[in-house]
Amino acid sequence: MSRGEVARLRERARERLPAHVFEYVRATADGSDEAEAARWDEVRFRPVSLRGALEVDTRTTVLGTRIAHPVMVAPMAQQVAAHLDGEVETARAAAASGTLLGVSTNTAIPFARIAEQGAPWWFQTYVLPERDLTYVLAERAAAAGASAILLTVELTALRVPPHVEPTSWPDGPARARLVNLTPEERARVAGRPAIGPGLEEIARLRDATGLPVVVKGVLRGDDARRAVDAGAAGIVVSTHGHRRLAGSIAAVDALAEVVEAVAGEAEVYADSGIREARHVLAALALGARAIFVGRPAWWALAAGGGDGVRALLDGMTGDLRLALAQAGVGTASDALAARLAVPPS
Ligand SMILES: Cc1cc2nc3c(=O)[nH]c(=O)nc-3n(C[C@H](O)[C@H](O)[C@H](O)COP(=O)(O)O)c2cc1C
Repeated sequence: MSRGEVARLRERARERLPAHVFEYVRATADGSDEAEAARWDEVRFRPVSLRGALEVDTRTTVLGTRIAHPVMVAPMAQQVAAHLDGEVETARAAAASGTLLGVSTNTAIPFARIAEQGAPWWFQTYVLPERDLTYVLAERAAAAGASAILLTVELTALRVPPHVEPTSWPDGPARARLVNLTPEERARVAGRPAIGPGLEEIARLRDATGLPVVVKGVLRGDDARRAVDAGAAGIVVSTHGHRRLAGSIAAVDALAEVVEAVAGEAEVYADSGIREARHVLAALALGARAIFVGRPAWWALAAGGGDGVRALLDGMTGDLRLALAQAGVGTASDALAARLAVPPS
């Protein structure tokens, strides 16, 4: 799936969606929705030659879970605004494509319906303003079959016009969130911001659920190191899709530093602005074990439901196989070992 095809998905989503929904999904910290992708574009490759016959293999594992390829779906709220069945469709696509999805705290779909689709999934959590409910919800996700907890540590306060904020959307079902809490539990947290997490949340969530904890939203080697020392099993290098802070470095700028700081003691993943196979290849070659796509999957869901998301995942993976072959490396670990990628300066 080329960059142009992803852009066409975005335009099909724009045609199908109310303007306020489209604008919410597109929003970034500084109005630029191409800045992250442009930074991935700046990665340069040093193709490898004279290594004999090449066998391309995209299969990998993430925290022990086998996936057919390293393109996973990011946890995103408001998927029912893209398609009435939201994450049910996304999970169906992930299962068919052989990959994993993140499920947002703010999903409007019960965990059991997502789990039924058969794709592996990680539950994404914030620290809720009523702290005890954070663990209640994470335990529910674990009981429903989540295989890891994604603890999001970036707090985004997007500056969008009031009518673009999901809480003010006119369509009730589209703005539903937190449905895996009971109505009483939901009322306790309604309208209140999440709490900024400290290092202690990593062990608390791990102990509450018995699952590995992956910290999502790290952009510095020192933070990654502290997270791993506190028990994190994985790190997602992410700017929340350029939604965190205007003027922030891009995810790709932080990736090599985080990989070095973690020193193989945890898995590293990346997201934000990944729009085509060469970006996936860049992330793998810089040490990411797998990546997440966010908005492209959301747009594909709006444009074509689960089949659309599957076409996106399979298309990006097909292109990744070709890019690996063209680069002269068969696998992600070959790409890393060959120092295939030169990060942007
Ligand atoms: C509409 C939307 C909703 C999101 N909701 C969440 C969320 O609930 N929790 C979370 O950790 N990240 C959330 N994210 C961030 C994604 O998980 C991911 O980091 C980001 O979308 C990746 O960048 P990309 O969209 O450029 O691929 C959201 C992103 C978007 C666009």
